[in-house]
Amino acid sequence: MINKKYYIENYGCQMNISDSEIICSILDNEGFIKTENFKKANIILINTCSIREKSEQKILLRINQLKFLKKKNNNIIIGILGCLAQNFKKKILKINNIINLVLGPDSYREIPSLIRKIYNKSYKYINTFFSKNETYADILPKRDKNKITAFVTIMRGCDNMCTFCVVPFTRGREKSRDPHSIIKECEFLFKKGYKEIILLGQNVDSYLWYGGGLKKNFKKSKIKNERIINFSNLLELVAISVPFMRIRFCTSNPNDMSYKVLNIIKKYKNICKHIHLPVQSGSNKILSLMNRKHTREDYILLINKINKILPNCSISCDIITGFCNEYEYDHNETLNLMKLVKYNFSYMFIYSHRIGTYAYKHLIDNVSLEIKKRRLKEIISLQRKHSYFRLSKSIGNIQEILIEGISKKNINFFYGRNSKNDIVIFPKKKFKIGDFLKVKINNCTSATLIGDLLNEKYYL
Ligand code: SAH
Ligand code: F3S
Repeated sequence: MINKKYYIENYGCQMNISDSEIICSILDNEGFIKTENFKKANIILINTCSIREKSEQKILLRINQLKFLKKKNNNIIIGILGCLAQNFKKKILKINNIINLVLGPDSYREIPSLIRKIYNKSYKYINTFFSKNETYADILPKRDKNKITAFVTIMRGCDNMCTFCVVPFTRGREKSRDPHSIIKECEFLFKKGYKEIILLGQNVDSYLWYGGGLKKNFKKSKIKNERIINFSNLLELVAISVPFMRIRFCTSNPNDMSYKVLNIIKKYKNICKHIHLPVQSGSNKILSLMNRKHTREDYILLINKINKILPNCSISCDIITGFCNEYEYDHNETLNLMKLVKYNFSYMFIYSHRIGTYAYKHLIDNVSLEIKKRRLKEIISLQRKHSYFRLSKSIGNIQEILIEGISKKNINFFYGRNSKNDIVIFPKKKFKIGDFLKVKINNCTSATLIGDLLNEKYYL
């Protein structure tokens, strides 16, 4: 008899959290039991990320730490899943001989049967083949209880081939999920009491589905061609299908974003007014080396369009510093672009060469770590100023927020978010997590708004 207790550890982005929920669902349907205590588990799964060197190192260290478990009990099955598994393939078995299972992001349906095989014969299994159509559309992810926000994956993979990025190699080509299953899942989530949905994809703007047949929801929208569904159509269909839920989406790509999406965001109150729009660099030379397919000017044009159509929309960003051949001039172009946009928020990274990428093969990682660190510091410090500038504009306003939980720093405070994705904290009152309420903003730091709950609910 197999001991069916499994433990899963997650690294990386929201997409990985969402994938882990799919993996748990696959395992639970086959009678496996999740445990939060890895010492009680007989199956240990690590869902990995290899986007940046730092995340990869962290995981390799963790795998090393697990050696002691295997020494204690040789029957324990250790599986490495996700991007690092995809990237390292057989090499990972050489790095560490405690691993039994290596599966890439398109092979999760095989986990239960492979665990059984390994258990019986103590084999090692690897599957890192990409599928042209695997989207896990029919699998309802197993989500943690007591959450009010749910991730819903709408597309997987990426075709953009930015020269620094491993995603096209670790997650394969773009595959859009059937809109029927997306809408069904959103409606299900609403019935289960969830209040917010985050539509996920490496590049949501290239969502495309040929098929149609969503008559029920089409009636309320003005979509003309119901056979081809693009991202703006999907966003509208979701907004109509779950009108009492907040809708967010991530990640947008400046090259693929259509103005239609902006108009849909404007049209529906339940679509949050926030766009995550990574630029990576403010220098045209670097953007071209990165194969980003948008120039600095294209990006600024899009920002102006967003500001015009959605004057209250917040914009956040990903920035990489120290990419190959980045000179001081290019770095200053990034700082200048930041000054122009004044992002509400940014994720800022030091460039790390990733094996297999175009940059790894053809460009030299020629900016020293010292310079990278100094440039990152400058970028972070500027972003902090901009975040404070943006947040301080809210002081004195009354904002609509969704209560998401109890503040980690002070249990007498709730935290929530406004439509712009700003975090707001406020003293607890008789209301509960999941309530939509109005808050008067009194103060802020560079990361958080501070306010007081008004005794007034609001409706989407
Ligand atoms: N479209 C994706 C982007 C995935 S990678 C999404 O859904 O978010 C997330 C971010 O990691 C990128 O936008 C980029 O800023 C950063 N990144 C990717 N590869 C990197 C590398 N080699 N070095 C440093 N940062 C990197
Ligand atoms: Fe990576 Fe560029 Fe796609 S950053 S995920 S290749 S849009």
